[in-house]
Amino acid sequence: MKKVIIRKTEEIENWKRNINSEINFIPTMGNLHNGHIKLISTAKNDNSNFNLVSIFVNPLQFDNKSDLENYPKTIDNDIKISFANGADAIFIPSTEDIYPPNNKNIKLLKASTELSSALCGLNRIGHFDGVCTVVYRLLNLIKPKNLYLGEKDWQQLLILKNLVLTHKLNVAIKSIPTQRDFDGIPLSSRNVHLSKNERKLIRFFSNELLVAKTKFQQEKKISLKEIIKKLSAEKISIEYLEHLHPHTLQQSRFEDNISILAGAIRCGETRLIDHVFLMKRRPIIAIDGPAGSGKSTVTKLIAKKLKLLYLDTGAMYRALSWLLKKENIDYKKEKILQNILKDISIVFKSNENSHQDVFINNYCVTEEIRSQEISSIVSKISSIKEVRKFLVEEQRKIGASGGLVAEGRDIGTTVFPDAELKIFLTASIDERAKRRKSDKKSKDSQEIDLHTLKELIKKRDFEDSNREISPLIKANDAIEIITDGFSINEVVDKIIDLYNDKIPKETQIQ
Ligand code: PAF
Repeated sequence: MKKVIIRKTEEIENWKRNINSEINFIPTMGNLHNGHIKLISTAKNDNSNFNLVSIFVNPLQFDNKSDLENYPKTIDNDIKISFANGADAIFIPSTEDIYPPNNKNIKLLKASTELSSALCGLNRIGHFDGVCTVVYRLLNLIKPKNLYLGEKDWQQLLILKNLVLTHKLNVAIKSIPTQRDFDGIPLSSRNVHLSKNERKLIRFFSNELLVAKTKFQQEKKISLKEIIKKLSAEKISIEYLEHLHPHTLQQSRFEDNISILAGAIRCGETRLIDHVFLMKRRPIIAIDGPAGSGKSTVTKLIAKKLKLLYLDTGAMYRALSWLLKKENIDYKKEKILQNILKDISIVFKSNENSHQDVFINNYCVTEEIRSQEISSIVSKISSIKEVRKFLVEEQRKIGASGGLVAEGRDIGTTVFPDAELKIFLTASIDERAKRRKSDKKSKDSQEIDLHTLKELIKKRDFEDSNREISPLIKANDAIEIITDGFSINEVVDKIIDLYNDKIPKETQIQ
């Protein structure tokens, strides 16, 4: 398909009819740099949709006339860059095209008050209303499947996510991490205005944010006063420096695991923003749900795709049940059990097929713990207070620095109640029994008829949901996914989308 430049809104419809494909949309204001290139190439590599880049300097989002007049315009170069990096079409409308002067129906949109009354919104009155208005008009015209935006403008990203949600727009927002120049300063179209000395100041500012991030990793706290003192000593004019919750943009609270440290400074005529995310530990995904909901397969795939550690807590309960059975231990006697637990070690190791083996006191029990014999006792054993206490502690030790996806029955409620993303994965009893029956690894399930399997699943659900300690219940803040009728990959993609929506991409590459 020929690459095209579209200059009139009416031509968009024509182009859409011809391509017969979904659209990835990358809105820009031109003067493209490596940040934009990353957006275009990410869209290209994500899927086989057509990629449409728009170049439009939106007057409504400028709160300062001279900033609008001086905004760098490099259209010929932008066209070359866009096509060279994966754009299939470039949309370059005029102001009259986007805002027809005689059209009285143009709706000026208001950005979310909560999100726009912090950070840049405090001084740039009307800026985010202007951004929302143009993006809303472009989305309605283009109706893309995906919208690609940079995390550099984190507040803009949140406001546009909110716009999509409140106006029920059918588009998925994909974000890319802030792209930085060779000296660490965030790439921005306005950087061309910086003098050598101004560039030095912004480098100092960006570097101070990085120093604060590293310090936070060790000390779990920051002092805004200290940073402001250092910046002021360099005569850097600070517009704001805030430590906030990354999604609500309210003051960060002690219990927030991820927060944002964001600032804006003025260098001569130019105003520059930068931020870092501060993390107490890497993110955790908790996946709970009943037996046969597809938890294990889904969790393993998520761990692989997001490069997270896979914590199979069910395997820990099964391994312990296996040992108690093998050694014929009377686990109902508290003293005996306590003695045994003192010397138990459960570890996971990746084997040569990149699968995970589970070892208990150095026995590899990966296969044996899946037998019906173990299935029939594990629920009882996992309802013993001492057992749960011991294994929950072990699980928390493994998860102390985060970076994992854990599956089980009480992960979101008991083990990691502060997990960033909690999923409650479930499926109807019919569906779960059918899955167990066709699971080649579950040897005993092959020998049991479907009806008996259903009864066993019902019994297990009842025991799990009604035990006194850590029963299987959905955490209040968990998202329920009913997997009937969905493929494994669809469920995995859905969870990864939810994760990407909550966790800044920038923190995922740290
Ligand atoms: O981030 C930008 O470049 C602009 O705010 C946008 C999203 C293209 C809207 O004009």
